Amino acid sequence: MSVIPNNHVATSISSSSCTFLGQHKLSTTIRTKNVWLPAKYTGICKCVATPEQTAYTTKVSRNFNIGKLQAGYLFPEVARRKTAHLLKYPDAQVISLGIGDTTEPIPEVITSAMAKKAYALSTREGYSGYGAEQGEKPLRAAICSEYYANLGIEADDVFVSDGAKCDISRLQVVFGSNVTIAVQDPSYPAYVDSSVIMGQTGQYQKDVEKFSNIEYMRCTPENGFFPDLSTVSRTDIIFFCSPNNPTGAAASREQLTQLVQFAKKNGSIIVYDSAYAMYMSDDYPKSIFEIPGAKEVAIETASFSKYAGFTGVRLGWTVIPKDLLFSDGFPVAKDFNRIVCTCFNGASNISQAGGLACLTPEGLEAMQEVIGFYKENTKIIMETFISLGFKVYGGKNAPYVWIHFPGQSSWDVFSEILEKTHVVTTPGSGFGPGGEGFVRVSAFGHRENVVEACRRFKQLYK
Ligand SMILES: Cc1ncc(COP(=O)(O)O)c(C=O)c1O
Repeated sequence: MSVIPNNHVATSISSSSCTFLGQHKLSTTIRTKNVWLPAKYTGICKCVATPEQTAYTTKVSRNFNIGKLQAGYLFPEVARRKTAHLLKYPDAQVISLGIGDTTEPIPEVITSAMAKKAYALSTREGYSGYGAEQGEKPLRAAICSEYYANLGIEADDVFVSDGAKCDISRLQVVFGSNVTIAVQDPSYPAYVDSSVIMGQTGQYQKDVEKFSNIEYMRCTPENGFFPDLSTVSRTDIIFFCSPNNPTGAAASREQLTQLVQFAKKNGSIIVYDSAYAMYMSDDYPKSIFEIPGAKEVAIETASFSKYAGFTGVRLGWTVIPKDLLFSDGFPVAKDFNRIVCTCFNGASNISQAGGLACLTPEGLEAMQEVIGFYKENTKIIMETFISLGFKVYGGKNAPYVWIHFPGQSSWDVFSEILEKTHVVTTPGSGFGPGGEGFVRVSAFGHRENVVEACRRFKQLYK
């Protein structure tokens, strides 16, 4: 790796690198081949392709839609900045409360089931190869009865997967390039980026920091982080995440009823991301299928990642009710099944053994303990920022604290916190223009690191 001058931040920007960096005016280094250039020589962090010159190029043109992406995916960009910071301060005790990756060990009741499955694979009796693409029946049944009991969902509506993010992309493949989408603004970046890649959008509009042809549903403290649907244009697909990443806000029953009615009125499909449902403290719906009529307009995607520490193991699921039909009456689930069979060969059998263990009484208790640990972290972070006089949102129903820095650029705040406290956060603008002026602090961390980070925040903002 090149040696980076001390006063520069290495962003290692390759082709199509930075929606989120676009407005960032800090001292930034742009790498063209192996040369590190301070941003002042290139203007502010310009989002231009800088292809390496090679002796040979193929005759294959680059996917035009991928070329529209203005940014490296947000979290790799945050990770790159952390790496650059470590190069600058090799002795710094950097604490990461940024990316939202889990840190606590997977409970043994779950790993022992996976170990048993792994060992069984080395016996004739216990070996299994490709499994059902949709997931093993007992796991589909266990997910159905644990999370969707009495909601009219059946085990064969549940498709087990290698994670919610992967399912979001597979759903986009099902929808194709001719649909329009709406997203909460701010929102988890996978919805917008997969939409761009599928060709559902126009170009990135630098002035408003949005892609054309996407409906950005503004979620702010003023509207309680629930969009004013009377101002939202009709789209085919509505991505909606509750509890939300990054704001931590969860939608109430009344709000979700409005959303379902809105979708029904417009003939839209909701893709409801409930990856954090088990973090909910308020008595709000944990599934969109708790709302009457949702089965005709909604898909739900969920994950073991943040419940059981499965971010690396990889296991999630998507529910597509039989009642959900395309305009020609064809069941959406049948097309999803086709994509799953074509693009995916089913989740790992070891992961699925872990998933089944998660849903035993002991496993559920163990997951609640993991979640409780992170919720305690969330409380510590919330209390810290509240005591410092900040307006703080989220936290109660999700492992994210959404902190307002009015009038400041999110990337500037991110950089200042990193520079002065060696703590990695996530800049709110990385989740969409509605996140500008906010920073997300994740509660995924070892307790001593969270406590230490909060001590440093108190020093910085006292
Ligand atoms: C809202 C949301 N959906 C989906 C995911 C991805 O989940 P998985 O690890 O199951 O792919 C995340 C991960 O951070 C998330 O925040």
